[in-house]
Amino acid sequence: MSDKKSANAMWGGRFASGPDAIMEAINASISFDQRMARQDIEGSRAHAAMLAAQGIISDSDAKAIREGLLTILSEIEGGTFEFSTALEDIHMNVEARLKELIGEPAGRLHTARSRNDQVALDFRMWVRDQVDAVVTGLTALIGALLDQAEAGTDMVMPGFTHLQVAQPVTWGHHMMAYVEMFGRDRARFQDARERMNESPLGAAALAGTSFPIDREMTAKALGFDRPAANSLDAVADRDFALEFLSGASICATHLSRFAEELVIWSSAQFRFVTLSDRFSTGSSIMPQKKNPDAAELIRAKVGRINGALVGLLTVMKGLPLTYSKDMQEDKEQVFDAADSLILALAAMTGMVGDMTPNAGNLRVAAASGFSTATDLADWLVRELGLPFRDAHHITGALVKMAEDQGCDLPDLTLEQMQSVNRDITSQVFHVLGVDNSVRSRTSYGGTAPDNVRQQIVRWRQKL
Ligand code: ARG
Repeated sequence: MSDKKSANAMWGGRFASGPDAIMEAINASISFDQRMARQDIEGSRAHAAMLAAQGIISDSDAKAIREGLLTILSEIEGGTFEFSTALEDIHMNVEARLKELIGEPAGRLHTARSRNDQVALDFRMWVRDQVDAVVTGLTALIGALLDQAEAGTDMVMPGFTHLQVAQPVTWGHHMMAYVEMFGRDRARFQDARERMNESPLGAAALAGTSFPIDREMTAKALGFDRPAANSLDAVADRDFALEFLSGASICATHLSRFAEELVIWSSAQFRFVTLSDRFSTGSSIMPQKKNPDAAELIRAKVGRINGALVGLLTVMKGLPLTYSKDMQEDKEQVFDAADSLILALAAMTGMVGDMTPNAGNLRVAAASGFSTATDLADWLVRELGLPFRDAHHITGALVKMAEDQGCDLPDLTLEQMQSVNRDITSQVFHVLGVDNSVRSRTSYGGTAPDNVRQQIVRWRQKL
């Protein structure tokens, strides 16, 4: 069965034959880990410079290695590099090409290093780049939300619980709720970045090395705060990817909730917002349709991102220290999750920037469903000194009366109100309007427009 290939050039010494084609297929990662080519080359260049600085290889060898690696990078970026499955992964593809380009000195690059610390390094740097891209994406989204909030600080809309109208709030306040969520996401990624910013390079296979390497030097050259302190942990750890995926899952959950609201709000039944043509699609059969596809796809992306988190948690559980080949399965899902999240953030930012809240519809909806009933109960407590429970009961009776008559609370006459509690005065009508309702919610974090304006200023300063 097996096609007798020649033994691997990297470790062929103790092998009589090459791998079976199926072995090669299950073993190779080059089809996907070529995405880490830039990180791999940066890491190797820093390693070579350090080896020379420490007198472990000659300056001329280091120079040849570093220049050869740059040539390879331009070949890869220019699309002329030929990736080979037989060479398994990005690390060996690059090293083999380096040998073609510069000959013998290429063989010195892997001194005091292993693919174990090399892959840990490459992947960590790749994830770190994604963290930066996600933070940039979140900053843009928060900016778009702040603009929406600013334009609608006084725009009343219904606040919901159970998707039933609860109390009037403002558009600005609702937008700022998402600013808080995406602000926490941003902080989570920044926090994770700090923790992941330790260099595994120099841990070698697992135990460190007997060569007099300088791990501080490579850590610094590659933008890390310090070298990782334990060589076993350095090669075995994938927490940085797990933290990225946890942050991504929470962020995607926020995006999904917001997307769901946009789907509901843009429906003919709600008409709370109009989405732009740029972020909508049509139907091939129903000419009248304008569908919120971007919102729906954002809502769905959380599925694959959560899947990636559970996938990697499952790969890592039960792995003995240190490296096991299982860990090669860490990358594809992280790549996909990062792509999905960054795209979803950009799509949401575009939609938010373009969408128009329909102030008239929002106002009508805000006043429906007896939304100021709590204001009425609060008035009874404040003005008549009633216990809140009694006030709640009286208000309930008035809501029932209005419901029976098919009108809203402010449409009841004073006499009708007094038939339930004779101390009620005409002053009560002041609190039954939606504008006064939102203006009265001045407690810290409440929906009063002045509060919201202060929060917008706070966030603008923070960014
Ligand atoms: N392609 C491998 C991976 O992604 C690189 C590390 C291989 N290390 C080893 N000891 N076989 O994990």
